[in-house]
Amino acid sequence: MELLKSKILEIKDKLKENLIIAAHHYQSEQIIDLADFVGDSYMLAKKASSTIKKNIVLCGVRFMAETAKILANEDQRVFIPDYYSLCPLAEKVKLEDLENIFYFLKNKKNLDVVIITYVNSYVDIKSFTGKNGGSCCTSSNAEKIIKYYLDKKKKIIFVPDFYLGSNTAIKMKNVRTKSIFLRDEMNLKEEENYDDADIFLWNGFCPVHQLYSEEDILNLRKNYPQIKIVVHPESKVEVVSLADFSGSTEYIYNLIKRSESGSVWAVGTESTFVNRLQKENPDKKIFSVKESYCKNMQKINLDNLYNLLLKIKEEKVDSNEIIIDKSELKYSLISLKNMIDIVEGKI
Ligand code: 13P
Ligand code: SF4
Repeated sequence: MELLKSKILEIKDKLKENLIIAAHHYQSEQIIDLADFVGDSYMLAKKASSTIKKNIVLCGVRFMAETAKILANEDQRVFIPDYYSLCPLAEKVKLEDLENIFYFLKNKKNLDVVIITYVNSYVDIKSFTGKNGGSCCTSSNAEKIIKYYLDKKKKIIFVPDFYLGSNTAIKMKNVRTKSIFLRDEMNLKEEENYDDADIFLWNGFCPVHQLYSEEDILNLRKNYPQIKIVVHPESKVEVVSLADFSGSTEYIYNLIKRSESGSVWAVGTESTFVNRLQKENPDKKIFSVKESYCKNMQKINLDNLYNLLLKIKEEKVDSNEIIIDKSELKYSLISLKNMIDIVEGKI
């Protein structure tokens, strides 16, 4: 392992003017150690839109690399060490279904509707969102993005994560939600009136965050009276409402880092990340609400990173490069730019 690490560092050094390695918080310690930049989905997107390095290697899941490619300049290239590092949540929304529901609410129900798509989605969904005046969001800014459109009196279709949409609406108070699906069947009917709904929620979920239950939280409180509990907002509604805090991975990272020495934390998000938090904060006790790993995030390893860097150095890369169709690039860029502009108060 040490040999591989030093070989990677050697290539990094050779390519340093032309290479940036960005890693999501869920990556293994070995990858984090080699990364130039570590962050949550929003930070990775922002980094991609600001770096001038020619080659961007994204250690994370594919939608993150696609986001980087959409935001990068035309002459920048984006690579992922394992092309099949997919996010099951992003698979939960199919363009045809989204189009049907969007046109149903817009044309049949005459609602002034936009789509907000969690960045955990693929390019076709982002593109349809941008084409129709909507925006992307991440877990760090969902509230801001929803507020922006509600202030404009829009109805929102929120895809694909049911829980991020629900948890954010609950936090905002007085925001009314309606589930689009009952089990897997579309639950919107022509004869019904939907004026009393502000957000229409898709039925996607992240398998990693669905493992935590109300009972887990209650047991933790019983066993550790002083415990503080922080969870990711992709967790179930009852889990988020019983936790002390919820937020993106970067929020969780900073919250724990800045907490009092000696404090005890249970964290409801990917366990590779939780284990690193404990290692980086030895003066605190930090553990998972329940062990839960994202196996797609863990597909990235020193071997495939090394092989990729070797190919970049020898200018041989093919299957690990992210290529996006020009027709989809234009509107998916709009959906991501809308998110950044709303967050930065530019629109
Ligand atoms: P963050 O944007 O909070 O890093 O979340 C990404 C993700 O995939 C969580 O499962
Ligand atoms: Fe997707 Fe869940 Fe893995 Fe995040 S943790 S990348 S949402 S599967």
